[in-house]
Amino acid sequence: MRKAVCPGSFDPVTNGHLDIIARTSDLFDEVVVAIGVNKSKASARLFTAEERMEMIREAIAPYGNVTVAGFEGLLTTFCEQNGIKAIVKGLRAVSDFDYELQMAQMNSSLAPTVETVFVPTSPEYSFLASSLVKEVATFGGDVSALVPPFVLERLTARLAARRAAAEGA
Ligand code: PNS
Repeated sequence: MRKAVCPGSFDPVTNGHLDIIARTSDLFDEVVVAIGVNKSKASARLFTAEERMEMIREAIAPYGNVTVAGFEGLLTTFCEQNGIKAIVKGLRAVSDFDYELQMAQMNSSLAPTVETVFVPTSPEYSFLASSLVKEVATFGGDVSALVPPFVLERLTARLAARRAAAEGA
């Protein structure tokens, strides 16, 4: 049984993430979408871990071999505890490669039996990042082609609530 993990912050999950998850589900018997903590992004978080998990759960419903989980510590510990041998990461551009290679090598030094597999992002999603989706949506830009409809709904509601809270403050 070949088991892979697609890790990320998923704040929120985008069509780019879902493209990588769908393609990973074709390559492996079992795929776990794992919501982890990226320390450098913690202050910009828009959704709770539970909310991000709910959105992913809805998005992966069509795939019989994909599940979602959260983890708090090291990704390699999560892999070892769950019998996962492959970490799958999407690469959008050369600029992603430097950081992703560094992480892959650090993860490999922590858990030599866990491999990182890079999957090239589909060209139509090469510019897509959750952080940009949040920024564009904050300023009223149209992100409806970039996230699933149920994510768009939550994003719009969360940003409106934040705006109302800021105006009331
Ligand atoms: O979507 P992101 O923010 O690029 O995801 C990054 C994530 C959460 C996969 C990464 O920060 C991670 O693996 N965090 C868990 C802690 C960990 O293992 N850190 C060491 C990485 S070398």
